[in-house]
Amino acid sequence: MNSNWVKYAINEINADAQRSADTHLIRLALPGFPGIQLYLKDESTHPTGSLKHRLARSLFLYGLCNGWINEGTTIIESSSGSTAVSEAWFARLLGLPFIAVMPSCTARRKVEQITFYGGRCHFVDSACEIYAASETLARELNGHYMDQFTFAERATDWRGNNNIADSIFRQMKNEPHPEPDYIVMSAGTGGTSATIGRYIRCQGYDTQLMVVDPQNSVFLDYWQSRDAGLRSTVGSKIEGIGRPRVEPSFIPDVVDEMMRVPDAASVAMAHWLETQLGRKVGASTGTNMWGALQLAVRMREEGRSGSIVTLLCDSGERYLDTYYNPQWVSNNIGDIAPWTAQIQALVYPK
Ligand SMILES: Cc1ncc(COP(=O)(O)O)c(C=O)c1O
Repeated sequence: MNSNWVKYAINEINADAQRSADTHLIRLALPGFPGIQLYLKDESTHPTGSLKHRLARSLFLYGLCNGWINEGTTIIESSSGSTAVSEAWFARLLGLPFIAVMPSCTARRKVEQITFYGGRCHFVDSACEIYAASETLARELNGHYMDQFTFAERATDWRGNNNIADSIFRQMKNEPHPEPDYIVMSAGTGGTSATIGRYIRCQGYDTQLMVVDPQNSVFLDYWQSRDAGLRSTVGSKIEGIGRPRVEPSFIPDVVDEMMRVPDAASVAMAHWLETQLGRKVGASTGTNMWGALQLAVRMREEGRSGSIVTLLCDSGERYLDTYYNPQWVSNNIGDIAPWTAQIQALVYPK
């Protein structure tokens, strides 16, 4: 073990964090909801374009401090794309080889970004195969399998330390309702929802954590049944979220409520958000915002005022071939027009 190199690598990552700025918290004006404020934590503005920048930094530090990553170690990751983009960026920062194992249907833009940062992509046919293929590669190359699905929840310090939850609560400080009634998040690894849920408890807030789950994901059923053996034969169509198996980083006991979101609602909401923000967002942001809007409706019906925070996970520019391609949407998601109409009716009630 080259401890000088490990020291150098940790310093490189910390110096990079020091040079970086925090992400914005955007307040969305919703005319039909007087007294209810809705906020989007915009994670698309990280250098690698998604919330996974935080996770990649944490996973590299975790691997370095555990003695798992050393000079020259090949880094391998199973990913639906976003994590791999961010890890490729950190691997390049440290001069380490990087291989991403991903389903062949992953958005082309993400594949291009991974290779742009010097990483290699290893494709498998379905989402279920990424774990075994990553383990095999790590064994063959004597590399380190990052395994975000296992380590996301423990690599991030949920107590404070400028994690995403800490940042949200600090940025809410001067708002009309600084303690959100709800934070809404979807789960890929489940790491972000675990961090937020634990932080809320640790700080003694009354904020409720709702996790939204797309079609073909087992997280919601697992949350209800606690059957860790649940499997789905079909992968999620909302890139980055929803899993065919129960991931170890998904911590059900910190989640107060869960909601299933139809894929067509997620895509319709992503498109609708473009009309509000003036830029495109990914489909998982649509899933999050759909859940947030349902909660805003609930609060309105109950005559409550307050605030709701959710995440803008990544930009829609990555998905021009898919969620922003009408033909792809029609073939893979179906007709989103009824969902768009429903959003309009909820936001602008008669
Ligand atoms: C675009 C996108 N949104 C949301 C998530 C979910 O985040 P987490 O893995 O922390 O549950 C991911 C994870 O890969 C993602 O790529």
